[in-house]
Amino acid sequence: MDYRAEYEAALSVVEGKLADSFRTECPQGELLDAMRYSLLAGGKRVRPVLTLKFCQALCGEMEPALDYACGVEMLHTYSLIHDDLPCMDDDNLRRGKPTCHVKYGEWLALLAGDALQAAAFERLASSSRTSPAANGRACAVLAKAAGAAGMCGGQYLDIVDEGKTLDEERLTQIHRWKTSALLEAACLLGLTASPVEPSAEQWAAAERYARELGLAFQIRDDMLDVASTAEELGKPIGSDADNDKTTFASLYGLEECGRLVAEHTRLAQESLEGVFQDTGFLCELARSLAVRTH
Ligand code: IPE
Ligand code: IPE
Ligand code: MG
Ligand code: MG
Ligand code: MG
Repeated sequence: MDYRAEYEAALSVVEGKLADSFRTECPQGELLDAMRYSLLAGGKRVRPVLTLKFCQALCGEMEPALDYACGVEMLHTYSLIHDDLPCMDDDNLRRGKPTCHVKYGEWLALLAGDALQAAAFERLASSSRTSPAANGRACAVLAKAAGAAGMCGGQYLDIVDEGKTLDEERLTQIHRWKTSALLEAACLLGLTASPVEPSAEQWAAAERYARELGLAFQIRDDMLDVASTAEELGKPIGSDADNDKTTFASLYGLEECGRLVAEHTRLAQESLEGVFQDTGFLCELARSLAVRTH
């Protein structure tokens, strides 16, 4: 199967499972609507695809990781809903649609994010595709990535540093936490779901791959905020400048950013060499994200 077909195959399994979520009729139906509105708006699904594909790289199957894949996408969607709120980036377009708070109002968007985060952990903790012990480890992996020394910590620094000129070290710290941490969790959840135990070398290689991929991913995101269009991107451009944020694009310019993305992508690819049997898809995924347009 070629890369694109393989991506589509993983994507359609995830989309099918996510579409089944939060459909019950209940008094809080509008809350579930808001959760589904953001969750099913058609993101790239990079994180769940990573989860499925790392599981497959280890044991040959994606299926054991299906609940973990859904969970990491729910957590990511929560982070986007909150990231767009007026008290944070204050953006009005996400995944090509009005942001959750624009559509449903702030308090409901806040709760939709909160409930998606809780649902993510519920999904991991109760998966019947994996053992209770694996589910516990999976919750710990995701909690660490989402928390104060992960995504939330990165979001804190990202906001508190608005209006300041940052050096590369500080900016890299922010990107590692706000973006690489969750991508890393996605990869490690795939290994955690596999019935074949990963070696210490495989675990470390996945961490390295995700760290480099995450930096490349966020630098590319910073570039697109400057150089793309809202139609292409599905979210507003110029948001970083409007919020007076230092980004890789403002620090180095687009040309140097392109070089940095290529370098981190190469390091991501190299980290898998000789550690997993078939690394073709994961290397191609890194390559294609380096040149993504949305
Ligand atoms: C956007 O993530 C937030 C960042 C970490 C840059 P994605 O670019 O993965 O957004 P979706 O999920 O495809 O909408
Ligand atoms: C946000 O980074 C990363 C998250 C934890 C959501 P950005 O603020 O740059 O993401 P976009 O550009 O709004 O998607
Ligand atoms: Mg932000
Ligand atoms: Mg934002
Ligand atoms: Mg951005």
